[in-house]
Amino acid sequence: MSDTASNSKNGGLSYPADHCPDPGVSLDPDVSLDPGVSLDTLVVHGAVPFDPLTGAVSVPIYQSSTFRHPGLGRSTGYDYGRAVNPTRSELERTIARIEHGKYGLAFATGMGAISALIKLYRPGDHIIVSEDLYGGTYRLFHDYYEPYGYIFSWIDTSSIDLVRAALRPETKALFIETPSNPMMKVTDIRACAELIHQQGGHLIVDNTFLSPWFQNPLDLGADMVVHSGTKYLAGHNDTLSGFIVHSSGVLEEALRNIQKSEGASLAPFDAWLVLRGIKTLALRMERHEKNALPIARWLREQGRVEKVFYPGFEDHPQYRLSKTQSRGFGGMISFYVKNPADVAVLLRSLSLILFAESLGGVESLITYPLAQTHGAIPEPMRIAAGVTEKLVRLSAGIENAEDIISDLDQAFRRCEKENGL
Ligand SMILES: Cc1ncc(COP(=O)(O)O)c(C=O)c1O
Repeated sequence: MSDTASNSKNGGLSYPADHCPDPGVSLDPDVSLDPGVSLDTLVVHGAVPFDPLTGAVSVPIYQSSTFRHPGLGRSTGYDYGRAVNPTRSELERTIARIEHGKYGLAFATGMGAISALIKLYRPGDHIIVSEDLYGGTYRLFHDYYEPYGYIFSWIDTSSIDLVRAALRPETKALFIETPSNPMMKVTDIRACAELIHQQGGHLIVDNTFLSPWFQNPLDLGADMVVHSGTKYLAGHNDTLSGFIVHSSGVLEEALRNIQKSEGASLAPFDAWLVLRGIKTLALRMERHEKNALPIARWLREQGRVEKVFYPGFEDHPQYRLSKTQSRGFGGMISFYVKNPADVAVLLRSLSLILFAESLGGVESLITYPLAQTHGAIPEPMRIAAGVTEKLVRLSAGIENAEDIISDLDQAFRRCEKENGL
């Protein structure tokens, strides 16, 4: 009898042991997508374009917590759902390929992914972090890891001189967001990789804002990429998820063990939702960006707006750098209103644009970083980074750009009525 993971009673469908998708990325050449296809094709089909057992075009949701062993010492490759699940494995293979890495790991949230990778380091290790970054990352590092003896330096990583000056012999990693959340500063990924590699450390890039459609940090020398998959990757404001992508066998062994031990791995249904979201990543990202530029330009012309931050402006301080490391500028815009009293009126008057804490979905969302995403950052540090009472962040959705602008227009007119000229 052949060595199969299923028997002949299932209508002749069998899953030969050597056909079982490896939980890592060693793909069966018979069922995996041609490695040469372009990114817009890859996102549609995923790493393995159909279920090898049934031919299902949509990857099945393997809603099973555990898997039957064919015999003692034998396994289908799937043992227990915390460690490995076929739907999650397909998503992990897919994100690895989209981000140009060898390995992908899927977590319940972006913070789950960041929390896992920080465990690669030890008390006494020094980590340099972008000072302008998602407030939840600050809270995790500051509130939970600093007390254990991890040492963090929070600096403006868009200045490579400041990064160089912050390096110490015990620096083990450089964690950057580029473009940064919410000030849209751009950090030189290649230069950071070169600096940190000189002393054997890792460069970690949070690539949430641009997504792999516009930027692939591993190609520029980064060692690990993290994502809040909740945002552009899933893309529909309907699920949470997080990812780490990298290409190192040593890191893979450590990270898989952390994922399995901590248990923050992504559930099968959520993995399926993200896989479905990724199918339209190319179309969505192009539309997000196509909408963002005219909205950012329009905002700039408004008398009630003091300043607009968007890396696609030619006078953005790192515009040229962006052009050398990214293929686009994305859909995120931040702006200062002149009168802080306008913020509350704006947020309550917008009707199409939803006042909610997230980004990267098909619906346009507006966020007040001071009270929401960056509320955990102490005031002096927050203000130094530029997150003041006047700052508002807009995630341009994929609606009609003119409708988004009209909504902003009517909300600014309401501000004028309530707060005067
Ligand atoms: C840039 C960035 N990284 C990480 C996270 C955390 O992701 P999650 O909310 O999926 O835990 C966020 C959340 O807003 C984010 O904006």
